[in-house]
Amino acid sequence: MSLPPGPRMPRALQALGWTNRALPWLERCRERYGDAFTLRIRHWGDWVLLADPDDVKRIFVAGDKVGVALANPLLGPLLGPSSMMLSEEPDHMRRRRIVLPAFHGEAIANDAATITAVARREVAAWPAGEPFALWPRMQVLTLEVVMRVVFGERADEPRLDPLRRHLTELTGWLNQPRNIAALSFLGPEWVRHSPAYHRAMRPVEDEALAEVRRRRAEPIPDRLDVVSMLIAARREDGSPLGEEELRDELVTLLSDGPTSTSLAWAFERLLRNPETLARARAEIADDEGDAYLDAVVKETLRLRPPVPVVVRRLLEPMRIAGRDLPAGTIVAPCIHLLHRDPRYYPDPLRFRPERFLETPPGTYTWIPFGGGTRRCIAAPYAQLEMKRVLREVLAAVDLKPVDTRGERVSKAAISFSPGEKGLVMVG
Ligand code: HEM
Repeated sequence: MSLPPGPRMPRALQALGWTNRALPWLERCRERYGDAFTLRIRHWGDWVLLADPDDVKRIFVAGDKVGVALANPLLGPLLGPSSMMLSEEPDHMRRRRIVLPAFHGEAIANDAATITAVARREVAAWPAGEPFALWPRMQVLTLEVVMRVVFGERADEPRLDPLRRHLTELTGWLNQPRNIAALSFLGPEWVRHSPAYHRAMRPVEDEALAEVRRRRAEPIPDRLDVVSMLIAARREDGSPLGEEELRDELVTLLSDGPTSTSLAWAFERLLRNPETLARARAEIADDEGDAYLDAVVKETLRLRPPVPVVVRRLLEPMRIAGRDLPAGTIVAPCIHLLHRDPRYYPDPLRFRPERFLETPPGTYTWIPFGGGTRRCIAAPYAQLEMKRVLREVLAAVDLKPVDTRGERVSKAAISFSPGEKGLVMVG
């Protein structure tokens, strides 16, 4: 049983390729080896990249025949072993069910007004006539929104300000270019042993757990937030979750990076496509629903998916890409390659939201949130959040790009972000 072909460079050089030029490298590999190829990157093991929707479907419908693998070596130390993202079945599903209600149905409808209010407050603080980077502003905004999901009405209380501050410092530390490079070359053990990482991480853990302890002593709120759901949850044997489990789940949710990156990209693309921007503005001005903004969000996530691959470990042998792959193989449905394949997206490099007004996204060709039982828990929530923020910002200010050239895609700690951090000006 052999893996599909792939680059023969030493693992260290493949790590360099992934760190410096991940996306063009993936494209070159597909041109050379086809829709399935194997990368051998130091600290990752061997990964079989999949860019054919039929293969991707096989993985996403495989249920418990596939298990956890890490898409990013940082996630192990950051999220912790009992995070739902890193748990195997049946623990994964149990954990997922606890917090799922916070991101679906009624909860989304309730949070729409909150997201609007947070966005309005954020835009009002932007400077006029001077360049500023939008990505950090979107990080502040999405942190405020997720704080409300996790801590509910208590999120506004000053007792949570230290947690906000430490989370922002942690994100800043993780996204420093030298730390991103060190992680790629030295692996997750470097993070585990880095005193600077622990100095940034420990206050986040301490503040999150301090809040859990305070909350255990307070009455349960009328509208359940994530902390109350986690505190109320019971294991099979009736015991509550321990502090380690609570820490891991809270950090998993609070360290959301992809939403801020995707918002920064949405503005970056809109500001360089004036006709699209005008059509989005017209929809907002005429109060005509949000079909076009919805398409803008989908097209942004197609062309600039913040996460380029998702990964799984085969728990049983499986026939994929015409080969019998052994149990233990790591397979990686490749979001980036599927999303820019001209067979599914004509003129794939063009930012054209209209394509999603003409044809709805395919289950296995539009996968910015992954798929199957591990699909992003917040997929509908994140899209609503993006639409609400786009609406508020575009209605309130006239943004202009500082440089009309598009920003390059740059590798950040958790997602792929705009190289200039989304440099704009309020005109
Ligand atoms: C545009 C925004 C977002 C994108 C593109 C995104 C993308 C992803 C992707 C690709 C995965 C892995 C899915 C897989 O392996 O099949 C994932 C998982 C996950 N995401 Fe998101 N995400 C976004 C926003 C969020 C937000 C706002 C939250 C919560 C605050 C969140 C929480 C999670 C969790 C908990 C998982 C693990 C689910 C599981 O293992 O069952 N994500 N996300």
